[in-house]
Amino acid sequence: MDTRKKYVVANWKMNFTVGEASLYLNKLAGRIQPSRKLQIVLAPSTIALQPLSLQINRRQFKLAAQNFYWREYGPFTGEVALSQIRGFVDYAIIGHSERRYVFGEREEDIAQKVAAAIRSGITPILCIGETALDRKDGETAASIYSQLTSGLHEVSKEDINKVVIAYEPVWAISSNKNAKPAKPIDIIEAERLIRKHIAKLYGKEASETISVLYGGSVNKDTAAGYLAIDGIDGLLIGNASLIADQFCAIVELAKGVKNERQY
Ligand code: PGA
Repeated sequence: MDTRKKYVVANWKMNFTVGEASLYLNKLAGRIQPSRKLQIVLAPSTIALQPLSLQINRRQFKLAAQNFYWREYGPFTGEVALSQIRGFVDYAIIGHSERRYVFGEREEDIAQKVAAAIRSGITPILCIGETALDRKDGETAASIYSQLTSGLHEVSKEDINKVVIAYEPVWAISSNKNAKPAKPIDIIEAERLIRKHIAKLYGKEASETISVLYGGSVNKDTAAGYLAIDGIDGLLIGNASLIADQFCAIVELAKGVKNERQY
């Protein structure tokens, strides 16, 4: 039996001005008690990272970047380097489907971002997940395997325990026009595929210890069901994380769930 860390990650996406983000953080801080077992990670817009890092109690919340560019500095107009946000964040979301499909982020850049985060002492949250078309074509496993293989391409066996994987089937993300919530069975299958592939790439121990989160249309009514899935170590939440009542309720549920897994 293994008692593991749990995660609730809030992806605020392109919402809130800096002032609004600060007020919202204040509201959450007043309602959420720090917890040693639960990592509550907030991912505001890049522009809010620095001010929120001054406001935040790091025992209560950690900050994550939603995106960055992997080069240290240079002629990359419009981009932000990790060296410019290091110190503000403990985590970085990498390869989110909106980055892949809206902004055309390439697998090789995702792999470089994962490597750059590890080099900087920042935990990468590598998002993977099949599209509706992949699923329809019976390509779910192939899509999961290929995104894992390429996203982790630069990660050594020594460093694999520094990575968090978020399984986010694109068809279940609320921003998707025809989004439908994933059923626990879909997530169980994907979680097994992920651990199986990690075992193939990095060995059995890594496959058992790596944290796997779920994300896609999670709200306070569905969170408990997802959190109860053996092998799911937490949630990545978009829309529902923007509403204090929703987010605080999900945090309370996550605190109540013991993350003990039996292999
Ligand atoms: P959602 O977003 O919870 O609004 O579906 C999740 C995500 O995109 O990370």
